[in-house]
Amino acid sequence: MAEKNIAFEEFVGRVRQNQKYAQLTLSLVEQIAREELNNQKDWHSALKTTRTRLHRLTGAFLPPKINYAHLIDNLGLITKNNSDELQAFSKQAMRLHASTNERLPFLEHFFYICLESIGGVGSILDLACGLNPLAIPWMPLKENYSYLACDVVDPMVSFLNSFFSQTNQVGTAFVCNLFQEIPTQQVEVAYLLKLLPILDQIDPSISTRLLDELNADHVLISYPSKSLGGRSKGMKQTYSQHLQRITEGRNFHIQEFTFPNEIAYLLSR
Ligand SMILES: C[S@@+](CC[C@H](N)C(=O)[O-])C[C@H]1O[C@@H](n2cnc3c(N)ncnc32)[C@H](O)[C@@H]1O
Repeated sequence: MAEKNIAFEEFVGRVRQNQKYAQLTLSLVEQIAREELNNQKDWHSALKTTRTRLHRLTGAFLPPKINYAHLIDNLGLITKNNSDELQAFSKQAMRLHASTNERLPFLEHFFYICLESIGGVGSILDLACGLNPLAIPWMPLKENYSYLACDVVDPMVSFLNSFFSQTNQVGTAFVCNLFQEIPTQQVEVAYLLKLLPILDQIDPSISTRLLDELNADHVLISYPSKSLGGRSKGMKQTYSQHLQRITEGRNFHIQEFTFPNEIAYLLSR
């Protein structure tokens, strides 16, 4: 095992010398580091492959340095109760994460169409949320809704908590590595947006574990129908087969919704 050539803590420290990986929750970095030290012939190769895999999981979607303090300052400049200013801020900030940026052209309809059959939603659990909680104004929520959101990017989670408190929204964000812990809070809708193909690369059992362990009446799953580079390469068919495979024998009522670069499925128990 390559691990014998370098202390594990030192190796993890080297991975985290790059700011992109320093901001990820330690448990995820350690998990991938351990696997790569076992898989690669030496720790130099393991360093490269650990960073590549972490990049595919998280870094590919976010610029390496986001000035969250600046975003919070801008949030503080918004006139109290001015929803137009708040929405303009949110749209601008959502451009920073590739997944929300791609959803912006049809954001006004996305959640209303996908969740129409439920009516007003009382509680949401947004898993691997990215900056999607900023899209709350475009979701059909009940007046006293609650919103839980998690991701592995530490400063982004802190930013989301500041966003919730500064805008007086009933939301909480927390750091969570879904490979190691699946949140089980009871909610009406859990979001798994553009997530499963990424997690599947690391753990092919994660999608079905999520479906079995989440405590949600409905699960909104989505897949990209174009890659980050803009190509579609039969993705739609691949992901519709993925959805079929993970829901097989699980007795969900399934609705499908197609958007320009995203395909969504509402699974209801
Ligand atoms: C493709 S983005 C989707 C973001 C958001 N769901 C959306 O559609 O706007 C994938 C997200 O998963 C997060 N992520 C990656 N690995 C994770 C893990 N093990 N646990 C929790 N979140 C993870 C990344 O940080 C990233 O924000």
